[in-house]
Amino acid sequence: MISGVSDNGGASRKSAIAIVGASGLIGQALHRRLKNGYRILGTCHSRPREGLVSLDICRREFSILDDFDWVIVAAGISNIDRCKLERQRAYQVNVEAVLSMVEYLARRRIRVVYLSSDQVFDGTKGNYREEDLANPINEYGRMKWQVEWQCRQIQPDCLILRLSKTYGADRNEGGILAEVIDTLRQGKPYAAAVDQVFNPTHVDWLARKIESAVSRNLTGLYHLADPRIESRYAFACRVARESGFDPDRIQRISLADLRFPESRGLNSSLNVSRILNALSEPVADYPVSHA
Ligand SMILES: NC(=O)c1ccc[n+]([C@@H]2O[C@H](COP(=O)([O-])OP(=O)(O)OC[C@H]3O[C@@H](n4cnc5c(N)ncnc54)[C@H](OP(=O)(O)O)[C@@H]3O)[C@@H](O)[C@H]2O)c1
Repeated sequence: MISGVSDNGGASRKSAIAIVGASGLIGQALHRRLKNGYRILGTCHSRPREGLVSLDICRREFSILDDFDWVIVAAGISNIDRCKLERQRAYQVNVEAVLSMVEYLARRRIRVVYLSSDQVFDGTKGNYREEDLANPINEYGRMKWQVEWQCRQIQPDCLILRLSKTYGADRNEGGILAEVIDTLRQGKPYAAAVDQVFNPTHVDWLARKIESAVSRNLTGLYHLADPRIESRYAFACRVARESGFDPDRIQRISLADLRFPESRGLNSSLNVSRILNALSEPVADYPVSHA
């Protein structure tokens, strides 16, 4: 419906923004960030939370989204191994239900922001730019790539943001930060791959950039992540140092030493210069230790 738009066509303070998947790591941060400036709706599915409305996208009943100008699609099965082990279910949610929602929204001229992933790349090169060829090597990446591609056919002015590994400061949110700190707190060493490389990104930084992207009316495909490219090992050492632990307790391993049900690319790091130029904003560092 695009009513609350600013002069540049982006979100204004009058805009109505729905976050589908607001009970997840990224959705929660977006909800925290946007709830004081916009008319907001956040949805949850299996984890009911106060202030969120229940929506199972597989039911394909999307009318609660009718009155919104933007819908940020943060819903899905985001665990790489689960997408392989429960492929059929993951495909239903991540591809079929998401695309059905995108079609519904496009028919109503509601703008879609789709959160994609660095897993669309095979991880052989790293520092990937938007124009680099996607070549996913796992089910999750193939699902994200298919949705990206179809999303652009369905709504050519949608915004697709490819994200890297995201972490939150809240231990209850889980994720890589909690994993490192909880292991070190228990007095155990933490093993981290020196050859797994990405852009570890603080979820609150990410939420701020997504808000900027929507308010500046960006359309098309962008890589969005903290510009610092690091190995999992370097990131774990940084977490240890900033949280008061001895970084020597981080053990250097190779990704091949770990046995996962699903493949992962070694270097899926993203080059984010395109979005940083488009947003022309300074890059603020975030401490990695828990709040
Ligand atoms: N986190 C990362 O590092 C990362 C990196 C790259 C891309 N991404 C992408 O960013 C998006 C958000 O990631 P995230 O880490 O925040 O994921 P998450 O923590 O796993 O949260 C997923 C969200 O999807 C909802 N959901 C799951 N099945 C649903 C269904 N059938 N109907 C409606 N909602 C459903 C969940 O609701 P309930 O929990 O209430 O069931 C939750 O709100 C995902 O698309 C993911 O692929 C994430």
